[in-house]
Amino acid sequence: MKKVDLGHAKIAVHLAGDKGPILALAHGFPLDHSMWKYQIEYFSTRTRVVAFDLRGFGQSTGGSENCTMADYADDCAAALTALGFEKPVVFCGLSMGGYVAWQFWKRHRQMLAGLILCDTRAAADTEEVARGRRRMAFDVLARGSHFVADAMLPRLMAPQTFEQFPDRVEMLRRVMAETSPEAISTAQRAMASRIDVTRWLPQIDIPTLAICGVEDEISRVDEMETFTEQMPMANLSVISSAGHMAPLENPAAVNEAIEKFLETLVD
Ligand code: MLT
Repeated sequence: MKKVDLGHAKIAVHLAGDKGPILALAHGFPLDHSMWKYQIEYFSTRTRVVAFDLRGFGQSTGGSENCTMADYADDCAAALTALGFEKPVVFCGLSMGGYVAWQFWKRHRQMLAGLILCDTRAAADTEEVARGRRRMAFDVLARGSHFVADAMLPRLMAPQTFEQFPDRVEMLRRVMAETSPEAISTAQRAMASRIDVTRWLPQIDIPTLAICGVEDEISRVDEMETFTEQMPMANLSVISSAGHMAPLENPAAVNEAIEKFLETLVD
């Protein structure tokens, strides 16, 4: 992992591959770059992969102060610049990483060749959901990250993933349990106060691929279909045998969708 010192945080970045388009990967909550294991393996022979640990997560530092989805996006932009990436990137975010991707588009669109939005939402939280996040943000500091792993894991993947790939389930549990309680608390508060970006959708006129696990309970297919239809250059790919963690649950299908999308970008 390379560490980029931004002053307020050191951002850890996994770099792989040396040719082709630049695929920048932003993980979901409360995870790190390792959730992209199968995309990093597959795309490192075809693209340049830049997989971030967002501020406070994985091997990155920072993240104990208040921050916003825009701050995570700015960190990614600053890290790409510091690493010398000059060409526009394809920014791919899962769930919380998708909330970061909206902000990346808003704030750094000159750095974008395309967007990939995996298992994510455009709408803000309901008041009830936001309250639940703020409760977790408080509780995790007292109870530790194991409690978050236990609470979240059952909803993250499709039932058959738990049966067929217990190693992947354990990997996620381990990453969540090892994530710092402060980073979890900060991110939950940041997600609770994130804005509804639905009104941006008609303006997002760059090539966009949306990806959704057919059994995703958190970012549902019908909701992703609705927001994709409002984006002028977006298509939705629904992934079989997968829930919220589609890239980890059915990597072959996700990689195929991403590869086809990247081919359409080649000029
Ligand atoms: C994620 O996977 O990043 C989370 O489910 C996002 C969220 O809690 O909204």
